[in-house]
Amino acid sequence: MRELNWATLGCGVIANELEQALERNGRKLYAVANRTHAKGVAFAERYGIGKVYDTIDDVFADPDVDVIYISTPHNTHIGFLRKALAAGKHVLCEKSITLNSDELEEAITLAEANHVLLAEAMTLYHMPLYRELDRIIASGELGAVKLIQMNFGSYKEYDMANRFFNRDLAGGAMLDIGVYALSCMRWFMSSKPDRIVSQVKAAPTGVDEQAGILLTNPDGQMATITLSLHAKQPKRGTIVFENGYVEIFDYPRGERATIYGTSGKPVRTVEAGETANALAYEVADMERAIATHEAGERGDIPKAQAAAEIEGLMHLGYTRDVMSMMTEIRRDQWHMTYPEEE
Ligand SMILES: NC(=O)c1ccc[n+]([C@@H]2O[C@H](COP(=O)([O-])OP(=O)(O)OC[C@H]3O[C@@H](n4cnc5c(N)ncnc54)[C@H](OP(=O)(O)O)[C@@H]3O)[C@@H](O)[C@H]2O)c1
Repeated sequence: MRELNWATLGCGVIANELEQALERNGRKLYAVANRTHAKGVAFAERYGIGKVYDTIDDVFADPDVDVIYISTPHNTHIGFLRKALAAGKHVLCEKSITLNSDELEEAITLAEANHVLLAEAMTLYHMPLYRELDRIIASGELGAVKLIQMNFGSYKEYDMANRFFNRDLAGGAMLDIGVYALSCMRWFMSSKPDRIVSQVKAAPTGVDEQAGILLTNPDGQMATITLSLHAKQPKRGTIVFENGYVEIFDYPRGERATIYGTSGKPVRTVEAGETANALAYEVADMERAIATHEAGERGDIPKAQAAAEIEGLMHLGYTRDVMSMMTEIRRDQWHMTYPEEE
């Protein structure tokens, strides 16, 4: 597999984590694009990265860039996706990948038209723990999934300088943390929920601060989700089966789960992967997916086989389901819209 040149578009908290993940594997970002040029330069100097673009648009024009990692606020994603995909770059875009399903469908169409790969950087899809739990579920020992309970709550100050409560930076609990709860739920459900009810409490800025969501899919599997952005909750997921339940700790980058029997007593603990390697797993899966995509494009393997393998690595189908649920809940049920949607 050829080594790919990654460029980051954005150099905030998560871009630092991506660079550190690459460095653990003896790699480096190839280039940095950032709105504030001086911060891009400081980021590149910190890590010894050779190239900083004068303007963001220069990254799209650089023929040596293979993959662009978009790590800016949610409402800026679609504008950068349009440019990156049209320029023929593969894109790994931070969660939430877009504001709503309309934007996501546009990006998917653009990726297909330009024969490049588009994926959301959803860490939990790449954690080895989830593949290990899938193996256990497939063995049949737990029986069918009945119920799912997902919590996620962070305590963020009401500080409008950052993106969490700022409506102009697509703040709110759903896009920032609800996306993790719904993605984890979708991983374990046999199909996408088609019945959803919810309640929401707004922050002083009007974005969603906390919410309770109930979901049921056509197979009768149910889920409850509680989100809060100004109150701490454990990031705990409970998957309830016919023959017991599984509790996953810190599920967005989970490395440990406990299986309980119907008596409520722990049966065993499952450990796989390491939280600290979350972004490294994500990068490795994206690179494998790009290699598979390129093999499909060259005709080395059938395109349908490539598509199935890529879906198994990057799960854009789940991203699509989650975005459609988030759009229905936030926009259609809560009537909570962003300036870009008005
Ligand atoms: N996967 C994860 O575990 C994880 C964790 C945290 C965040 N995220 C996601 O990653 C993204 C960024 O989050 P973060 O916490 O890293 O944010 P952050 O630290 O606030 O950094 C934001 C970056 O975006 C740039 N930016 C802000 N507004 C912009 C605009 N209007 N146009 C162009 N660039 C702009 C900033 O540039 P300046 O230097 O010019 O300010 C900065 O480089 C979000 O989508 C978030 O949900 C993911």
